[in-house]
Amino acid sequence: MLSTAKGKGQILLALFFTSTFIPSLLTFSPMPATHKNLVLIGPMGSGKSSIGQALAASLQFSFTDTDSLITTSLQSPITQIFAEHGEPFFRKTESATLASLSPISHSVISTGGGIILLPKNRPLLQNLGFVIFLTASDDTLFSRVSRNQNRPLLQTENPRATMAAITAARLPLYSATAHFTLDTTSLSRTRTLSILLDEAQRALALTPPNP
Ligand code: S3P
Repeated sequence: MLSTAKGKGQILLALFFTSTFIPSLLTFSPMPATHKNLVLIGPMGSGKSSIGQALAASLQFSFTDTDSLITTSLQSPITQIFAEHGEPFFRKTESATLASLSPISHSVISTGGGIILLPKNRPLLQNLGFVIFLTASDDTLFSRVSRNQNRPLLQTENPRATMAAITAARLPLYSATAHFTLDTTSLSRTRTLSILLDEAQRALALTPPNP
């Protein structure tokens, strides 16, 4: 069953790449080779997907989400992948997915909260582009993730404590990987986007499109 899922996954991943990674139609000034995408890292609930989609729309970049690539390629939700194959299998798949992104550019890439765990992933993230660590207070993060049940690592007796412990343990890894860190606890979504757009334009050497 696993090999069937893997076979389908390879085909789906190939289709995804040919259909999605079409370069932006906008003309931008040249970017340094090392900063060709924006890469969002950070704990569960830090807003990587929702802020990432808004950033991609503003920059006219594509949006890429490693969790979505994994669920599409394996045709299975993250909770089911963890339940059926375990976390090590998920991490391996996540790492292979990340490695497969190296050809892309002009994309905002949102990643799963645990992507910084495997040491080999950290240089891969940095080579993909400008890495932004999004974070927020434990209360803010927990209030966001408690809205749904799709985080397998939080299916514990005390998900709030689990979440805080996971976030604290990973903090040095996020910090060591990121080029820029933003704590959004007391920021509105509009302010968050404005700060990140300024940073992106600076880091990626983008020229805003002519009016
Ligand atoms: C995980 C975070 C999740 C997902 C998986 C594992 C983690 O992504 O990759 O459930 O280890 O923190 P989000 O950060 O988008 O919730």
